[in-house]
Amino acid sequence: KMKVSYHGHSVVKIQTDKHTIVIDPFINGNGQTDLKVEDLKVDVILLTHGHNDHVGDTIQLAKQNNALVVAPFELATYLGWKGLNVHPMHIGGSHKFEFGTVKLTQAFHGSSYEEEDQKIIYTGMPAGILFKKEGKTVYHAGDTALYSDMKLLGEFEDIDLAFLPIGDNFTMGPEDAAIAAKWIKAKTVVPMHYNTFPVIEQNPKEFVSRLSGKNGKVMEAGESIKL
Ligand code: NI
Ligand code: MN
Repeated sequence: KMKVSYHGHSVVKIQTDKHTIVIDPFINGNGQTDLKVEDLKVDVILLTHGHNDHVGDTIQLAKQNNALVVAPFELATYLGWKGLNVHPMHIGGSHKFEFGTVKLTQAFHGSSYEEEDQKIIYTGMPAGILFKKEGKTVYHAGDTALYSDMKLLGEFEDIDLAFLPIGDNFTMGPEDAAIAAKWIKAKTVVPMHYNTFPVIEQNPKEFVSRLSGKNGKVMEAGESIKL
């Protein structure tokens, strides 16, 4: 059994029997979230890429919880230098952890971390995340354009729940995300990465009504699905 909850922008939390995992914990500065960094208890932080609206509060969260950070190699290395406990992975690789199996997929995007002194640190390739536990699969697409190899996910994975960005401008917009939804063949598709900033304003209900599989669900911040 696992409980998967959405917390605005690209923040997704997964609770298994023994562990709490959070993906892309952008909390401070995220007007769409219901979470507070001080209250959040996590064992594991999974990161898709280095952009600050995804790495978010990782450093504070990891330190206050002594949490493991799993991220693409360059980003993991960089966060390791900041004193965090990291596990680097890369695209196409999967690893079986005690808390579940993580596989990184492609994402067609950029990946960099902005330091406060106007310095950009490039953090390698961005990724999506497949999380598997007890026969269930959750796909978090990260930030990505539509790309045709998403069809491989539909062919070779059995995705129960997928989070797809619909904000447009930086990622897929609703039209492309609807095509992605068709290709990946997830049982349930949840839109993310919208309405956090004016430039990514979207109507998630309109996106859901556009899905040919009629398998979309808009999740409010704090809402959860049991798998
Ligand atoms: Ni990004
Ligand atoms: Mn983003």
